[in-house]
Amino acid sequence: PTALAGRHFLKELDFSAEEFRGLIELAAELKAAKKAGTETRYLTGKNIALVFEKTSTRTRCAFEVAAADQGAHTTYLDPAGSQIGHKESVKDTARVLGRMFDAIEYRGHGQDIVEELAAHAGVPVYNGLTDEWHPTQMLADVLTMTEHCDKPLTEIAYAYLGDARNNMGNSYLVTGALLGMDVRIVGPRVLWPEQAVVEAAQRLAEDSGARITLTEDVKEGVRGADFVATDVWVSMGEPKEVWDERIELLGAYAVTMDVLRATGNDEVRFLHCLPAFHDLGTAVGREIHERHGLTELEVTDEVFESGHSVVFDEAENRMHTIKAVLVATLA
Ligand code: CP
Ligand code: NVA
Repeated sequence: PTALAGRHFLKELDFSAEEFRGLIELAAELKAAKKAGTETRYLTGKNIALVFEKTSTRTRCAFEVAAADQGAHTTYLDPAGSQIGHKESVKDTARVLGRMFDAIEYRGHGQDIVEELAAHAGVPVYNGLTDEWHPTQMLADVLTMTEHCDKPLTEIAYAYLGDARNNMGNSYLVTGALLGMDVRIVGPRVLWPEQAVVEAAQRLAEDSGARITLTEDVKEGVRGADFVATDVWVSMGEPKEVWDERIELLGAYAVTMDVLRATGNDEVRFLHCLPAFHDLGTAVGREIHERHGLTELEVTDEVFESGHSVVFDEAENRMHTIKAVLVATLA
């Protein structure tokens, strides 16, 4: 068994820097083994429940492929097709699933729900995204950063632009703080992470040596950054009405070529957890276009499709890093 055997994966704050880095290293090893065709199956016969109360492409597929590669079986439950939340409490669901499965992934709304599931399941529970945190995404982002930058982690600088009062903003702030990185949160003050999250990050930084900046100034925020990241301006579960306000608040924080140039770093890389709004390829996109005349929001299509963009490496890395979580906690 590994040092993380039997552990939950609920939020970055539950892990030491060493544990978090250990998962990244394990993911890199598993990735290399898969590419070389030498992957060992550590999870034969294990069963993993995948509970999704919000939609997903990457996270669901990452869990399913990672589990299959490792010899484990998955069962997908969506809210419409199960009793969860409407006919059965989270606590009862946890105790039922915990009797049948070796681990449970949960994507949904409040962090309190995944924490409650973990408290009663008796098996490892993984947070596949809540309103507050997206910890498996952070593993993929950090792995991607190590692949695209030769510096040690503690020397890497990244700037996250846009809505930082969401799961990605919180997770970027706390993860960089944990790992001793140079983290910049760039956006309007009303969309910075809640004070409690900022304070948690500051406490971590005292130990890790992380440099933490929260700023409304794009130029100051991105100067010298190795990576520029962003996320959608309206997250899953938020009402449609907030679009107007967000477009107003965040227009100046879109990632454009000018923003990348302002880093002063020709090698700067662009990250986005995806899905991204950079063209009119979606129904939401067409609706926004009709109402606001915009064809791109948090990132321009030019940046998204440029050589700076490593978003598909990042997406692929969801699978390798989630596999690391499964192997570390279940093997
Ligand atoms: N990045 C991410 O979590 O993607 P999905 O919503 O498609 O799972
Ligand atoms: N902030 C986004 C992330 C999607 C992966 C959301 O919660 O919808």
